[in-house]
Amino acid sequence: MGTFERTLVTSALPYANGRIHVGHLAGAYLPPDIYVRYLRMKGEEVVFICGSDEHGVPITLRAMEEGVGPQEIIDRFHTANEAAFAAAEIDFDIYGRTSWPEHHELTQAFFLKLLDGGYIEKQRIQQYYSEKVGMFLPDRYVEGVCPKCGGDARGDQCDHCGTTYEVTELREPRSAVPGDGTTPVLKDTLHWFLRLDRFQETLGDWLEGKTDWRPNTRGGAMSWLREGLRSRCVTRDTEWGVRIPLDDPDAEGKRIYVWFDAPIGYVTNTKVWAERSGRPEYWSTLWQDAGTRLIHFIGKDNIPFHAIIFPAMLLGQETYIRPDVVVANEYLNFMRAGRAAAEKFSKSRGAVIEVRELVETFGPDRLRYYLTAIAPETADSEFSWLDFFHRTNGELADVLGNFIHRTLSFGAKNLAGEVPPAGTLGEADRATLAAIAETREKVGGLLDRFQFRHAQAAMIDLARVGNRYFDDRKPWVTRKQDPAQCATTIHVCLQLAAGLARLMAPFLPGGAGRLAAMLGIEGPQSPGSWARIGEEGLPAGRRFEKPKILFPKLEPGDVPEASTD
Ligand code: 2FM
Ligand code: ZN
Repeated sequence: MGTFERTLVTSALPYANGRIHVGHLAGAYLPPDIYVRYLRMKGEEVVFICGSDEHGVPITLRAMEEGVGPQEIIDRFHTANEAAFAAAEIDFDIYGRTSWPEHHELTQAFFLKLLDGGYIEKQRIQQYYSEKVGMFLPDRYVEGVCPKCGGDARGDQCDHCGTTYEVTELREPRSAVPGDGTTPVLKDTLHWFLRLDRFQETLGDWLEGKTDWRPNTRGGAMSWLREGLRSRCVTRDTEWGVRIPLDDPDAEGKRIYVWFDAPIGYVTNTKVWAERSGRPEYWSTLWQDAGTRLIHFIGKDNIPFHAIIFPAMLLGQETYIRPDVVVANEYLNFMRAGRAAAEKFSKSRGAVIEVRELVETFGPDRLRYYLTAIAPETADSEFSWLDFFHRTNGELADVLGNFIHRTLSFGAKNLAGEVPPAGTLGEADRATLAAIAETREKVGGLLDRFQFRHAQAAMIDLARVGNRYFDDRKPWVTRKQDPAQCATTIHVCLQLAAGLARLMAPFLPGGAGRLAAMLGIEGPQSPGSWARIGEEGLPAGRRFEKPKILFPKLEPGDVPEASTD
C-alpha cells in the first residue's frame, strides 16, 4: 500500500428515483464491499462511503409523472435502497443523502471557492425553451432522435448507442415535460461554467502516472483530455437542486447541476459520519491529508465525472487530495431465456431483478457469489437465471459447501466432533496445508489489483484442493485400516475449513460467519484475521458442531427460467 496510512472508499451515489437492481450491485457496490472487508481483515484503517443522489432531472421527471413532489420520491427510494444494500450485506459506514442541509452548504462552499479562483464564470448560451409551459428545458427534458444511431433519445446522451452530443444536435426535438410535447425553441440564457480547460495540464500530468488503472478507466479519461478540456455548464434551469449561492438576478429559477453536487456528497457523507462517530475533525484527515488513499468505485458511464471533473473541482479547492484509483466497471446485462441477445436491465421493458427481491428469495450469499463470479470487470457480462442456478449449485454448494460438509460430518461422526492431532504429516498433507497460506497470498494479490472474479475463484479453488485431497486420502477407508492417517487427513481438512471460513469472509460474510460458528472460530472478519489464514488453525482437541448445510442446493423449480433448460 505504499506510503498510505488509511483508505477512503466510495461507491457511486445511486439516484433516488428507482430501486437498485442486480446490475447496479455487481458494478459499484459489491466489489468495494469485498475490498473494504478484506482491508479491515488486514487491520487497515478504512472508511466506506455511499448515499443517495437526490437531485437531477430524472427525479423531477418521475415526480411529475406520479403527480407528487420530488421530496416524496427521494424519501421513498432512499429508504428502499438503503434497505436493499443492507439486505445484500453491503456494509457502508454511512448511507447519506444529498438533500441534507450540510450537503447544500458544502456544495455552495465548493462553488464559491471555484468562483473566487476564477475557475467558475458566467457565460451566455442558447438553450431550449418551451413556449407552452414557459420554462427552459434542461438535459433530459428534451426528447428526440439520436443524431448518431437514429434511435429515440433523451437529453445530451443516447441510451441506445451511448453517444454524448450537444442537446441542440438532437433531431426532431420535443419537450419531455409531462403533458407538453411541443417543439422547443432556442433562447438566450446565462449560466455558470466550470473552466475545465484551466486544469488540462495538471490533470494530464496526473493521469499520465496512473498506468495501473484499468484500461477502460484511464482510456476514458485520456480521450477527454485528448479532445481538449472545455468549460462545462454547472447550473441548470430547475427548482430542484442546490441554490446558486449568489445574489444575482440571473440565478433566478436556476440551481447547481446535479453532477456538480453529487460527488461532493462523498465529502458531506464523510463529514456527517465523522461527526456521528464522535471525531468531527477526522473528515479532513480523510479528505485533505496526503496519507489517505482515495478510491472511487463506479460504473463506466461515470468515468469523466470521477477521473476529470471531480478531480478538477478538488484541485480548485486547493486543500483536497485526488483519487489514487478510480475503478470503473462495465455493464451487467440480462440474458433472458429464449432471447438471442442480452439486454440492458430496464424496468419499463420488464427486464429487471431488484436486489431486495432476489435476496429475499435466495439469500445474500448466493447473490454475492454469483454477481462476483460474473462481475463485469473488463467487459460487459450477463446475468442469466440458468447460469445463476448452475453456478450457485455447482460451485457454491457442490464444491465449497460439499467440502465443508463432508469434513465436518465425517469428523463429527467418526472423531467425536473434536479436532484430531496432526500426527505424522506426509508430503500430500504438508502440500495441502501449505495451500492455505498460498491461497491467502493469491487472493490478497488479486484483491489488491481489484480482480474480484479471479480472487473469488481462487478461494473456491482451495475447496477444490480439499475435495481432491479428501478423495485421494479416502478417510472412510483409512478409518479402519489406519486410524492415525485418518486422523491426520481430517486434521488437515479441518485446517482448510478454518482457512476457508476466513478467506470466504470478504465475499460471503454470512456464510463465513455460519462456518466460523460451527468451527468455534471467533471473529473471522476481525482486524488481523487475514494474516492468521494458514498460520493459525484449529488446535487439536477443539470441539466442533455437527454441520448444518452451509449452502443448500436449489431445485430447478426454485429459480425462474431454470427449468426451461
Ligand atoms: O449515475 C448515477 O447513478 C449517479 N447518480 C452517480 C453519482 S456518483 C457521485 F458522483 F455521486
Ligand atoms: Zn444513439
